[in-house]
Order: sequence, then C-alpha cells, then structure tokens
Amino acid sequence: MPHRVLVTGAAGFVGQHLVAALRADDVVAPVTAWRRADVDLVEAGVVHRAVAALRPTHVYHCAGAASTANSWRTRAATLRTNVIGTQHLLDALQAHAPGARVLIPGSAFVYHPKPTALTEDDALGPINPYGVSKLAQEMLARRVATADGLDIILTRSFTHIGPGQGTGYAASSFASRIARIETGGVEPVIDVGALDARRDILDVRDTVAAYRALMNRGRGGTVYNVCSSTAHPMQTVLDRLLALSDRPIGVRVDAARLRPSDYPLLLGDNARLTGATGWRPTVSLDEALARLLDDWRARVRKEVA
Ligand SMILES: NC(=O)c1ccc[n+]([C@@H]2O[C@H](COP(=O)([O-])OP(=O)(O)OC[C@H]3O[C@@H](n4cnc5c(N)ncnc54)[C@H](OP(=O)(O)O)[C@@H]3O)[C@@H](O)[C@H]2O)c1
Repeated sequence: MPHRVLVTGAAGFVGQHLVAALRADDVVAPVTAWRRADVDLVEAGVVHRAVAALRPTHVYHCAGAASTANSWRTRAATLRTNVIGTQHLLDALQAHAPGARVLIPGSAFVYHPKPTALTEDDALGPINPYGVSKLAQEMLARRVATADGLDIILTRSFTHIGPGQGTGYAASSFASRIARIETGGVEPVIDVGALDARRDILDVRDTVAAYRALMNRGRGGTVYNVCSSTAHPMQTVLDRLLALSDRPIGVRVDAARLRPSDYPLLLGDNARLTGATGWRPTVSLDEALARLLDDWRARVRKEVA
C-alpha cells in the first residue's frame, strides 16, 4: 500500500522541523501537513471528515497545547486540546484508517520528580496541569492501542530546543533576550530565576530523528523516553549562550522568579529508545544553542527591519 503520511500541528515548533525532514528525505510518500487552521482537532466532525478523505498510513500527532507555564492559566483548554483533540483523532483513525501507525509525542512531565535518571518504569505523577493532560493523553492512547488495536507508539520527550521555538522555554527565552540586546534598544541585562535546575536537552533535529526512527522500528503500544541521557544545569545553558555573544551582558536575579524548581532534575534514560532503534543524539549542546541564538538573531533582525 502506498504510504500517506500525516503530521498534525505542522505549523508548530516540532511539526515544522518534522515536515521539513520528512519532505527532504522521503520523495516517495506524500506528507500532508495539518495546521489548526486546516483541521481543528477539537471539532470531532471536522476531524472525521478530514481523516476519511486522507486515510493516512502514518500519523505523527504533533498538535497540542505544549506550554507548561501557560497550562496553569489555561487548564481546561490544555485538557481539551491534548485529551479531547487526541480522542477525536484516534476515533477518526479507528473509523477510517484503522491500519495506520501513529506516533504521539508525550512529555517527561508525566513523571513524578526523581533525583536520578528516569526510566519508562518509574513512577508517574505529574505536578503541573500540562503534565496531567499529557498523562491523560498517554493513558487514552494506551487504552485505544490495547483494547481497540490501533498501532500507537508513545514517547515521553524531554526538553528539545531549536529554531522556531517560542520564549516559553528558558534557553529560547535567554537566546531571544541576547538577540534583542545585540540589536540595541533594550537594557543589556537578562533577568533570571533559579539556575540550579538540571535539564536533559536535545536539539530538535535529534528529537525529530528519534520520532522517525520510532515510526520505523518502535513497538506498538510501547512508551519510549526521547532524551539525551545527559543533564545540564540551566546556569551552564545561560553561560554558554552568553559566551556566544561579544556584548557585555549582565545577569540579574529576579526575586519573583526565584522559586525552587518543581523538578530540580529532569533527566531521562534513553536505553529503551536506543536499543529499539539504534538512534543516538548527534548534535552537541553548544551547536544546538548556537543554532537557537542564530535563529533568534534572524527573527529579531526581521522584526526591526
Ligand atoms: N517542545 C518541547 O520541548 C516538547 C517536549 C515534550 C513534548 N512535547 C510535545 O510535542 C508536541 C509538539 O510540541 P511543540 O513544541 O511543537 O508545540 P507548539 O510549537 O506549540 O505546536 C503545537 C501545534 O499544535 C497546534 N494546535 C493546538 N491546538 C490545536 C487544535 N485544537 N487543533 C489542531 N492543532 C492544534 C498549534 O497550532 P496553532 O499554532 O495554530 O495554535 C501548534 O502549531 C506537543 O504534543 C508537546 O506536548 C514538546
């Protein structure tokens, strides 16, 4: 059967990189990229009609409410998008494309905080509304995989960074500020909160490569950590970004942001992923940060032009 690949959330950070990578490498399978403006997943009828018309063979479900910070303010909307939207998509696939292979990027925020590396067997117990919605998404997808037989691969993805990312992520927010300071007109200072939290960070190209490897070689009904298995203090992330700029930039601790991190360490163990697929991260933290900063420089230049 000819492949028909669908990417939801195609205008988002991960979706854009995934669509570009699929289209660059795969000249055989057409890739359909859905944005919310094309198919709003909260609208069941719209989703059913669109899936019936396309009957995809492979689905990367990248649409979602992805911001942990926003989720405190938008709890119901976060649940609606991540849970109800996913239910609509899976219902429609079951009805119109039951043989499709589906990859759902989940989140490391489904885990309960732990002071050592997290494996897929560790305790679940999200402590923010985003994590709750991603756990509900994962649970509903597992049920559909087990009871209804849809071929679904689940991930618990740790932080990824890269071009096109919003400022809701610390590294991207630091890079955005540095780019604005370099352009002039803003105080040459970055306001920060606690920088002792440690995070497992991948370049988005490695994340996308892991998703494609799992689509090819992952086991249906299984959940995989997508991560580097290395943790970096956020202080290191900031220091390395500052070192990429030739401007003198101050760092100011903002008392309002100085709450202890809910997850002092968010580090994954990627043994299941590497064992199943042979995937390995290829992009160093320095290269990932340099690309992120260069992208922000280009974005800020465009804004002021
Ligand atoms: N970025 C990370 O570090 C990270 C880490 C772990 C897991 N993830 C997961 O990876 C996935 C992609 O994240 P991302 O960073 O690419 O997020 P993103 O940049 O916010 O993109 C998400 C996309 O989903 C679309 N969307 C939202 N609601 C929708 C709806 N009702 N119907 C259809 N489309 C809708 C959005 O469209 P609009 O722009 O039009 O609203 C947006 O383009 C999410 O499931 C996220 O939870 C991300």
